Amino acid sequence: MEKLIIEGGVPLNGVVEISGAKNAALPIMASTLLAPGVHKFSNVPRLRDIATMRILLSHMGAVSEHDGGELTVDTTSVNVLEAPYDLVKTMRASILVLGPLVARYGRARVSLPGGCAIGARPIDLHIKALELLGARVRIERGYVVAEANRLKGTVITFDQVTVTGTENVMMAAALADGTTVLENAAREPEVEALATYLNRMGAKISGAGTHEITIDGVVELRPSKCRIIPDRIETGTYMVAAGITGGHLVIRRCQPAHLEAVTRKLQLAGLRIEERNSEIEVWGIDNIHSVDVKTWPYPGFPTDMQAQFMALMTLGNGVSVITEQIFENRFMHVPELNRMGANIRLEGRSAIVRGVTELQGAPVMATDLRASASLVLAGLAAEGKTEVSRIYHLDRGYEVLDEKLRKVGARIKRVRE
Ligand code: UD1
Repeated sequence: MEKLIIEGGVPLNGVVEISGAKNAALPIMASTLLAPGVHKFSNVPRLRDIATMRILLSHMGAVSEHDGGELTVDTTSVNVLEAPYDLVKTMRASILVLGPLVARYGRARVSLPGGCAIGARPIDLHIKALELLGARVRIERGYVVAEANRLKGTVITFDQVTVTGTENVMMAAALADGTTVLENAAREPEVEALATYLNRMGAKISGAGTHEITIDGVVELRPSKCRIIPDRIETGTYMVAAGITGGHLVIRRCQPAHLEAVTRKLQLAGLRIEERNSEIEVWGIDNIHSVDVKTWPYPGFPTDMQAQFMALMTLGNGVSVITEQIFENRFMHVPELNRMGANIRLEGRSAIVRGVTELQGAPVMATDLRASASLVLAGLAAEGKTEVSRIYHLDRGYEVLDEKLRKVGARIKRVRE
């Protein structure tokens, strides 16, 4: 196993280029199951989750190649309509193959994901919606087995906003008979990006990016091409990196409009931020203001930025209350940050963060992707040496994080444990 060793206290300075969004690429990769043939994508990040999705697609009979940022997926010979436990347990987003398989092949067998580090994360809303579209769904030995002749369009109101749930059902409805309306749909940019690709394949989807998505089902879809949108969470993470080290970063190839809620909170924390077309420039300050944050579905403050924002708030000049409203157990970074000298107390779904004047380097580990990112950020600001272990979490979602940080002056290296 590998770990990162960080010598903190260096203000970051320079240019960072943002990679394609993992959470946009994964559903788009799953959507290739809807249209047999060769699909081509660019700006696809080299990440462990992308590799896992490729393994899953190849288990089903698809052939893919990932060279630089270019990914081709050939779904001509898909014949195994199953997502096995071993893959689903390492990546919950594997559930995204459920909708496309039932819609295109009339059958799917997908392992139930089970719990994960950030909470129970059930898939009941995905299943309920597929049933409303006419699928017969049963749970058999830990697997969801769904069958259908042709799905039938209907009105589906989600009880709760779910990102992959919206994506799964939108993909299924694209090939259904008649019109489907998704109410209380997720509005994340990644949902919109998926709809754009489905429409390129010949789907008839409108309203993606709003609460209500309308899908007029078509009989078949054909493969197409697209470029993956920039990763807004990676962008936000580097914005915090500039802020927490009191540095100055120019963040290129990003989409500033996707980060409005994050930018607003970082400005309230005192960071100076300038936005241009596909670029954000961030200047850190010495005196970080403590501000409160609550996570919400998009366009609210993303739960995927909560841990990184908390790292910044550990050095605030007062008290910040950070409330997690999406996942019940997404605070594993709290005890680790406290080991680095932070002063954070948990009260139910809120973390009360009292700012301290400095963090100290320490050996730390985390059990999920964004929590690991927050520990790296804290390590960049801390006095002395921080060792972050279990970095396979980071490699799931941040393309060459250590390399990008080194380029802007961080003293960070990757070593074998
Ligand atoms: C996606 C993102 C993840 C992000 C999350 C919230 C991907 C691959 N992952 O995850 O990075 O943190 O959105 O922005 O895009 N829920 C149910 N039943 C369901 C589905 C969800 O109760 O059937 C609950 C979840 O437990 C959670 C909330 O709904 O409390 C939102 O989860 P959801 O939006 O579905 O998260 P994911 O799509 O898994």
